[in-house]
Amino acid sequence: MLLGVNIDHVATLRNARGGVEPDVLAAALICEENGATSITAHLREDRRHIKDADIYSLAKNIKTRLNLEMAMADDIQKIALEVKPHSICLVPERRQEVTTEGGLDVAGNFEAVRDFIKPLLDAGIVVSLFIDPEEAQVKASFETGAQFIEMHTGSYSNNCCEEEFLKLKKVAAYAQKLGLRVNAGHGLNYENVHRMHEIPGLYELNIGHSIVSRAVFTGIAEAVKTMAEAVK
Ligand code: PXP
Repeated sequence: MLLGVNIDHVATLRNARGGVEPDVLAAALICEENGATSITAHLREDRRHIKDADIYSLAKNIKTRLNLEMAMADDIQKIALEVKPHSICLVPERRQEVTTEGGLDVAGNFEAVRDFIKPLLDAGIVVSLFIDPEEAQVKASFETGAQFIEMHTGSYSNNCCEEEFLKLKKVAAYAQKLGLRVNAGHGLNYENVHRMHEIPGLYELNIGHSIVSRAVFTGIAEAVKTMAEAVK
């Protein structure tokens, strides 16, 4: 199983001051040096964390794969076609594209999703659809021509109950039977990630918030020591 690191919240921190620190590309390169097999960045319609320039810079400079998370927005599709990331993961941003739990409602927006991803697939970009673990969503995803689904692990992560875990396991098996490859993510952390090993065939996990949060604590001692030296 592979680890994709989502670096959106490095950009959130940078944008809090509107400057250049912490540098998103530098963070991505460190992730790669330490086991990330891909870098995910979500270019939101409101550009609240990752900016257009980050996507161009990441695409040009990272050594692994860039996975561009994006909504069904024409201007972002245009950027994707220009940048040609290894993959895109289509996520909901607008209310009408969302199911109750938060994945993309592919079954309810079938034609729109199929038509939106076609130019991306034609350009050789791998397409993944971020969906709730429901068979109807998996079947619809398969029929759009997407090669991957990313199972939304939010309910599993929040509730951590057996029922939510079994849903993920069952849906992953169903998706793989259809020929889809299966990723998973959202809310995974250092405790709940271990059970993902019990789901056969999972390809990659995309994890962001827990890694950036942990980095504050694993890095703050050194950061203060160095500043204390400078201030002394
Ligand atoms: N996968 C997708 C599709 C997401 O939208 C997100 C959150 O941006 C993640 C994975 C990572 O979630 P988290 O930051 O909770 O690890």
